[in-house]
Amino acid sequence: MDRSDIKGTFIVFEGLDGCGKTTQAQLLADFFAGQGAEYVYVREPGGTPVGDKLRAILLDPETVLTKWGEVLLLAAARAQLVQDIILPALTRGKTVICDRYLFSSVAYQGYGLEQDVELVKRVNLEAVQGLMPDMTFYLEVSVQTGLARQQKVRRLDRIERRDSGFFSRVVRGYEKMISEYNFIRLDGTAEPQVIHRQVVDNVTKKMKKGERG
Ligand SMILES: Nc1ncnc2c1ncn2[C@@H]1O[C@H](COP(=O)(O)OP(=O)(O)O)[C@@H](O)[C@H]1O
Ligand SMILES: [Mg+2]
Repeated sequence: MDRSDIKGTFIVFEGLDGCGKTTQAQLLADFFAGQGAEYVYVREPGGTPVGDKLRAILLDPETVLTKWGEVLLLAAARAQLVQDIILPALTRGKTVICDRYLFSSVAYQGYGLEQDVELVKRVNLEAVQGLMPDMTFYLEVSVQTGLARQQKVRRLDRIERRDSGFFSRVVRGYEKMISEYNFIRLDGTAEPQVIHRQVVDNVTKKMKKGERG
């Protein structure tokens, strides 16, 4: 992939289940729509025909899957999404808003499932052809807050049903990635509109800089 072909901005939301990723991704999508800007919103896993099938397998509480089976199915779904949706959109100059990206695999499968973190990173980087986001928002909430919010609206999926030790490791993984990958860390317990304002401020600044630079 030639990085110079990429004209759009690639924005990712990360964090625990229930931290507010989808809420913020949709608020940001509405913001772009209001501006008449061209954007694409995708969520992981899924977003392509094969990705949606893999999503159903991955989140179904009935699914029995090895740890590396999980890593590889997620990477397969991500590879397809990048190839078929994200790269074409970025090449056309569209903004891409992605609800989770490879950092989720590093946090959940690498740290959470205690697999070789560097290998999880390497497999995923290969799967996405080296494509990394321009900005990654990390919405910070406690494990209890996130799961309580989820449980209020629906039954927990296969991965959300894991024990609290798993989620503490996921949080530790995300925390290690904050400085490594330059995450923009926001308080996920603030009001949605307050968080949205912070997101828009950051995005606007970044896009202005891109125009100059
Ligand atoms: N900042 C917030 N404060 C309180 N509740 C929120 C906030 N953001 C989202 N929620 C609620 O929490 C639940 C999970 O939010 P969601 O955006 O689906 O999280 P995620 O996509 O990260 O799992 C939803 O019911 C949503 O309305
Ligand atoms: Mg969500």
